[in-house]
Amino acid sequence: MAHVALADFLAELDRLQADAESAFQQAADADAVEAARIEFLGAKSGRLKSVQKGLGAVGKDDKPAAGKRFNEVKQAIDAAFEAAQNRAKAGPALRAGTPEFDPTLPGRRPRLGHLHPITQTIEDLKEIMGRLGFTVTEGPEIEDEWHNFEALNIPAEHPARDPLENFYLSTAQALAKSTAPASAATGEPPLLLRSQTSTVQIRVMENTPPPVRIISLGRVYRPDTADATHCPMFHQIEGLLVDRRVTMADLKSVLRLFARSFFGGDVHIRFRPSFFPFTEPSVEVDMSWHDRWIEMGGAGMVDPNVLKAVGYDPEEVTGFAFGLGVERVCARRHHVTDIREFYKNDVRFLEQF
Ligand code: PHE
Repeated sequence: MAHVALADFLAELDRLQADAESAFQQAADADAVEAARIEFLGAKSGRLKSVQKGLGAVGKDDKPAAGKRFNEVKQAIDAAFEAAQNRAKAGPALRAGTPEFDPTLPGRRPRLGHLHPITQTIEDLKEIMGRLGFTVTEGPEIEDEWHNFEALNIPAEHPARDPLENFYLSTAQALAKSTAPASAATGEPPLLLRSQTSTVQIRVMENTPPPVRIISLGRVYRPDTADATHCPMFHQIEGLLVDRRVTMADLKSVLRLFARSFFGGDVHIRFRPSFFPFTEPSVEVDMSWHDRWIEMGGAGMVDPNVLKAVGYDPEEVTGFAFGLGVERVCARRHHVTDIREFYKNDVRFLEQF
């Protein structure tokens, strides 16, 4: 075996110790410590191991000195490894050269959400109508046929009451007994998801004597196929004003004031003759903004039959009512062409508002 001079062997040990100590010193995390361990202390091909092989080639007389120094170096490297391991475990705070908080780094901005555009619109509508003296009321989304139809002058044979045009509900109790509609099985009155907010007109008038001046905003449900202007669930704003000598002119003034406040500036209102069972006469309300007309909903003078149904005297009081689509006014204001966008919950769309 080739002879190795003691001086060379000791010099190699010195180099090994210096390299290992600096590697463990700089290892910033557990992975780096492990990499250094394999490089210097690895059982098969670590550098300490290969230097150890050279020990056998040192001359017989030099062996004790070489062995002693080898052991010292091995202990020093073990100690450096242990210290590095402890630092890595102790976490970032104690790691050399990495302070826990670096005030010179740019801050991380938390992502802030905001109200959905439909909710924003609802808040705006409440605010505008509030200034015109209308109080906000609410009604249930699950309704009976009296409030959704009968009191609104929609008789049993009317096509609007077709089960295919409405979301009728089966109660759990009725479902347990049969597959027939709830009412057939149990005699319970049928319930449905309200198809219009006009239900709230009835609920308010049943409970308050005239005059009334309310709006109600909320969800309504119709089994429509979703397209750019329809959605099986959408929102309406309902307005109702009943008092002595209320006329169609009051209706138009209120709607015009409302449209001007909401869209701002030059909005025009147009009434087209229409039919609703609960108003007479009835109109479709169109609004024009930036030279385009769009249909916003329906309106009219409260039908005397409706006033009678809630115990009002049609000889004493008259009233107007309107119902507008919240999605439509919101879409128009923001130049959105497809109302389905409002319900996709795509943040890239929603964060624009
Ligand atoms: N309820 C009607 C609809 O949903 C709108 C309307 C409300 C019409 C009030 C007249 C008066 O289409």
